[in-house]
Amino acid sequence: MASCSGVSVMLVIPLLVSSLMLAFAGNLNQRFDITWGEGRAKITNNGELLTLSLDKASGSGFQSKNEYLFGKIDMQLKLVPGNSAGTVTAYSLSSKGSAWDEIDYEFLGNLSGDPYILHTNVFSQGKGNREQQFYLWFDPTADFHTYSILWNPQRIIFSVDGTPIREFKNSQSLGVPFPKNQPMRIYSSLWNADDWATRGGLVKTDWTQAPFVASYRNFNADACIWSSGASSCSSSLPFTTNSWLSQELDTASQQRLTWVQKNYMIYNYCTDTKRFPQGLPPECRSS
Ligand SMILES: *[C@@H]1O[C@H](CO)[C@@H](O)[C@H](O)[C@H]1NC(C)=O
Repeated sequence: MASCSGVSVMLVIPLLVSSLMLAFAGNLNQRFDITWGEGRAKITNNGELLTLSLDKASGSGFQSKNEYLFGKIDMQLKLVPGNSAGTVTAYSLSSKGSAWDEIDYEFLGNLSGDPYILHTNVFSQGKGNREQQFYLWFDPTADFHTYSILWNPQRIIFSVDGTPIREFKNSQSLGVPFPKNQPMRIYSSLWNADDWATRGGLVKTDWTQAPFVASYRNFNADACIWSSGASSCSSSLPFTTNSWLSQELDTASQQRLTWVQKNYMIYNYCTDTKRFPQGLPPECRSS
């Protein structure tokens, strides 16, 4: 008897804990608003899954309810499978106004079996032109993968499944504005961009494959929430809870970043001397 109940307790506790964690993770309804697409975007599975869809008439999109001023933000995405040529799934942080800041992931679809391009950019004060593009080391349509943005006052780090792929350092000392004063919201959308997305616009969207669907789950934000002109970080939390606020790449992460950039980077504005005949942007010369 005793051993029986011991066994059942041992079984029940992990079950309870994991269902609590699921309840905690599965609150996409509380974190996001569907903003466009007339029913093409949906939150299902008790708030655990968000899907965007695209057909010939429209794409769809969502945004976060919260605004953030710094954070470590993770989301799992599973991209449009099969022939996704012409489609773009955009996932970014952005502020408002004409001098906006923005941190971008864009996933450019492709023909079945051909690689997606992961396009990244950083805007500060309304100025972007800081593209870096990558192939991925896995098929991003076969399963969910985690795409993260670490944004603190010193740096922005893009990571895929925990592997850093790009670091944009604060180069204010070189006169480069850095996003650090404007709160940003998360925006995501799935739309048709067959005028440029796949092989530079050569491959068009095949609408017989529609609707195209991209999926999202397991959102997590360790972030400073901005509300009524104040940050949730300034007062309450002890600094140790917010170690991401001063996080930087350790040696192992730096080596993985170098590995990705060497093997998977297909475009880097920082090496595009033709594009910047007057000299590369200052932040490119710094490191
Ligand atoms: C699509 O596949 C082609 C051929 O492999 C490749 O050149 C291109 O970079 C891929 N990605 C996109 C988005 O065009």
